[in-house]
Amino acid sequence: MEAIVVEGRSRLQGRVTVSGSKNAVLPIIAACLLTGDECYLEDIPRLADVDTMCGVIGEMGAQVYPDGVNNLHINAGSIAKMEPPYEYVRRMRASFLVMGPLLARFGRVKVSLPGGCAIGARPIDLHLKGMAALGASITVNKGNVEAAATGRLKGAQVYLDFPSVGATENIMMAAALAEGTTTIENAAGEPEIVDLANFINSLGGRVTGAGTRVIKIDGVKELHGSHHAVIPDRVEAGTFMIAAAATGGDVLVENVIPTHLKAVMAKLTETGAHLAEEEGGIRVQADLPLRAVDIKTMPYPGFPTDMQAQFMALLTTARGSSMVTETVFENRFMHVNELKRMGASIVIEGHCAVIKGKNKLTGAPVKATDLRAGAALIIAGLMAEGETSISCVQHIDRGYENLVAKLQALGAQIRREER
Ligand code: UD1
Repeated sequence: MEAIVVEGRSRLQGRVTVSGSKNAVLPIIAACLLTGDECYLEDIPRLADVDTMCGVIGEMGAQVYPDGVNNLHINAGSIAKMEPPYEYVRRMRASFLVMGPLLARFGRVKVSLPGGCAIGARPIDLHLKGMAALGASITVNKGNVEAAATGRLKGAQVYLDFPSVGATENIMMAAALAEGTTTIENAAGEPEIVDLANFINSLGGRVTGAGTRVIKIDGVKELHGSHHAVIPDRVEAGTFMIAAAATGGDVLVENVIPTHLKAVMAKLTETGAHLAEEEGGIRVQADLPLRAVDIKTMPYPGFPTDMQAQFMALLTTARGSSMVTETVFENRFMHVNELKRMGASIVIEGHCAVIKGKNKLTGAPVKATDLRAGAALIIAGLMAEGETSISCVQHIDRGYENLVAKLQALGAQIRREER
């Protein structure tokens, strides 16, 4: 089994360039199914999840071929199957995003109930509510969801009980080819939603309000091909910023959009780290120890749930007590037991974790239970005394491009190893 091995007490120093956003590119690849013309995507991160999404649409008949390392041509001109293969869908929840575009363009789709990181129940009721509002008939049978429409979908008003990212994306894609206007109320406002709206508009779609709580989509009859560059990955950027501060480092994180990172920057500043927007990036410098702070995850522009685990790793050695409250997913504290194996003092009370800052962590064998938990353990390993070996690295490979090489370039003693 492959492990990531970290020698601790590293101080990160230098520059690092952030890759394209995983969470932006996955729905954009699904949106390529909205048109029979060719789409050309730039700044695609090379990740297991991107391969899975390409596999999903490839198995259904789309042609996907790379151009260099980080660009893709996608042509969904001849789609043969309306059913993405189960082995892909069970691997990654985002595969469910093919539902909206396939239903809108072909009037029918069958998708198995999705898998993905085990960070909560993660139902799909809001996705289905949206498809039903647009006129689809939905049946759930033996672990599969079947949706069908007679003629084009019909624009409608959809209110989301929670601003779900995936449901907002699926509904936006379905509505892009519907007859009439769709309004999504209490929509998610994440930057990845804005990138998807921009992509749909580049195909000839008419989406307005993305980035706010109300998104309006005027459906069009047909969409055409386009050329689109994906936004930088704010979670990867935030992970490097947290790692830089947690190790008392000095790092310029390049290829970032600072407005996407306001919440993380505000919280890092509260810990005593120095952040400066410089040409080309954000520079993070810190002297240890940092100060304890409280964080609470919220939909964007609140503190992102995808950076909760990494920030908690930083807080394990901050001076004082911190409280971390998780409001987006109900089971996103799986990294806590692993951090405790490294000597962290953390008590969980329902949706809250109370962290008492220690002088130091100690390296230990630990397990990446999901993608961001894996990143948190790497940060903890960089801070700790001695060696930390992290197993189940396949979770980390789902969402970080060349993470080990990028950290090595910042001076970390880190390697992949068969154990
Ligand atoms: C996306 C991100 C993920 C991030 C999450 C929240 C991608 C590929 N993944 O996941 O990295 O952690 O947003 O920012 O972009 N919910 C329902 N019913 C639904 C859908 C969701 O109750 O139909 C609930 C979920 O169980 C969860 C909350 O809504 O508690 C947020 O989920 P959602 O925003 O949909 O997350 P994803 O789109 O799956």
